[in-house]
Amino acid sequence: MVIRIAAVGDVHLDEDVVGRFRPALEELPDCADVLLLAGDLTRHGTEAEARCVAQEFGGLGVPVITVLGNHDHQCDQVPQVVKVLEDAGITVLEGTGVVLECAGGRLGVAGVKGFGGGFAGRCASDFGEPEMKAFVRTTTDSADRLAQALHSLDCDLLVALTHYAPVPDTLAGEPLEIYPFLGAYQLGQAIDSAPTALALHGHAHAGSERGVTPGGVRVRNVAHPVIKQAYSVFHVGDHLDQGEVSRLSASGT
Ligand SMILES: [Fe+2]
Ligand SMILES: [Fe+2]
Repeated sequence: MVIRIAAVGDVHLDEDVVGRFRPALEELPDCADVLLLAGDLTRHGTEAEARCVAQEFGGLGVPVITVLGNHDHQCDQVPQVVKVLEDAGITVLEGTGVVLECAGGRLGVAGVKGFGGGFAGRCASDFGEPEMKAFVRTTTDSADRLAQALHSLDCDLLVALTHYAPVPDTLAGEPLEIYPFLGAYQLGQAIDSAPTALALHGHAHAGSERGVTPGGVRVRNVAHPVIKQAYSVFHVGDHLDQGEVSRLSASGT
């Protein structure tokens, strides 16, 4: 059983980017069963930018599933952004999951944006000022909802989709000082609490591609500036092969 998963994050679309991904996206039915988007679809989270995303990623020959990123929250238009995406047939996950019938089996995707907080030994703690407690509880709530979504799915292959990173491995290349704003260990714990086969995230534009959770789940940072192609394709079954599908120049995006 092999399921082919295409993924990219941090495409940060606005009018000037529309059309750059489309030629490669039109080829998706030949090489993938599904496209997963790891958030930061827009630059500032406006409804107009969401329409650009709908134009670029709508009506493809494979299902498209996404989480939002922090940039998609910037203008406080999340309900409008989600509606535009859903009207274009894109499934938006936030503490929820979906099961797709693929030729290679039932693919379960659980998604959440996630949040920061840092990693073991260098993380924020639920202590002190109300603002700090609220920060950390935002992270733990998000991780809890990811865990619930992962456990709710009846499928053959389980994938976790987040914007923020669940491990520090895939942040290598980013300044150490900003790690706590790029991800949180609680997301990794949620992923490890379920029989997750693969975890995909974005957000860390200067990070690196490959990592693993403490429980041994393979993690891939698919931020577009990292993968430098329209999307990566993962063949997931008994093992994981990462296809190097180079179909788009990374220039300008
Ligand atoms: Fe981004
Ligand atoms: Fe981001």
